Amino acid sequence: MPDKKRILSGMRPTGKLHLGHLVGALENWVDLQSEYENYHLIADYHALTTNLDSSHIYDNSIDMLIDWLAAGIDPKASPMFRQSQIKEHTELQLIFSMLVTTARLERNPTLKEQVRDLEMENISIGHLGYPVLQAADILLYKGEVVPVGEDQLPHIEITREIARKFNTQYSPMKPVFPEPEGKITRFARLPGLDGKRMSKSIGNTILLSDSPEVIQKKMRSAITDPQKLRKGDPGRPEICLVYTYHQKFNSQETPVIEKDCRSGKLGCVDCKMNVTQKVCDYLSPFREKRKYFETHQQEVKDILHEGEARAKTYAGHTMAEVHEVMKLG
Ligand code: TRP
Repeated sequence: MPDKKRILSGMRPTGKLHLGHLVGALENWVDLQSEYENYHLIADYHALTTNLDSSHIYDNSIDMLIDWLAAGIDPKASPMFRQSQIKEHTELQLIFSMLVTTARLERNPTLKEQVRDLEMENISIGHLGYPVLQAADILLYKGEVVPVGEDQLPHIEITREIARKFNTQYSPMKPVFPEPEGKITRFARLPGLDGKRMSKSIGNTILLSDSPEVIQKKMRSAITDPQKLRKGDPGRPEICLVYTYHQKFNSQETPVIEKDCRSGKLGCVDCKMNVTQKVCDYLSPFREKRKYFETHQQEVKDILHEGEARAKTYAGHTMAEVHEVMKLG
């Protein structure tokens, strides 16, 4: 049997995950579990790029791991590990940083967007080099497929360029690294409740750990078609955020919702109540599993340590190869 292709995916531990993470990434990871060999990385060093306070990084990492497990990632099949615990990431990042120019990194649209959203005035070298560390994350495990949200595609492109450059420079006859491909889902970008990108820093999220009451309250504040002021007014589903949620969480009723919104028969309040119910139903099994892991913290920590031991072994092999082709050994 041919070896399964390898996936490397990752997230920054910036706190509890939201619905955008689940539908944009996690669901995709779970779906791909049987078909690929998966490595899941907790990008704790990357978290420092937007928040230097590291006092909560460990707790946030555990919290995120619990969300992953609750979403259905199988720890037996797929190692989960923190970037900071495997020194090879920083070593490979240093080598890769020689293979990419600052001009290339300054053109990164994801960086520009972040700087704009967070109103950052200065960018650290670490933040500018974000995609270089990400390239090391992926290539250390020879990831061939990277399931991500679409905002990450520019980073995958830079990863491909770095892999190509390394292979050409140091191992032209027998490439050490694959050129990974990004894999996005249709809902790669579930918008936040204000129609902007769902992001904790903007405060427009539904968290996976939110109770049904909180979800209802948040959904009530979601923006709809501004021209539809009351029930009876015709609405435009194509510009309505709540409609996007129906498409994802209530696909069966979507054609009726669309028709009744356009005709004015359906008011926004009822429409929101309906979708709230669907979102809550969708999250209900997740919430149950989350509760289990929250009360079994030692099991969660053991999963992490075991994942880190497996990742370390793989990373060590790759670095041995890197040293060999670079004649650094
Ligand atoms: N940059 C990714 C994000 O913010 C997180 C990440 C770090 C990552 N390293 C990775 C994603 C490697 C995929 C592969 O979502």
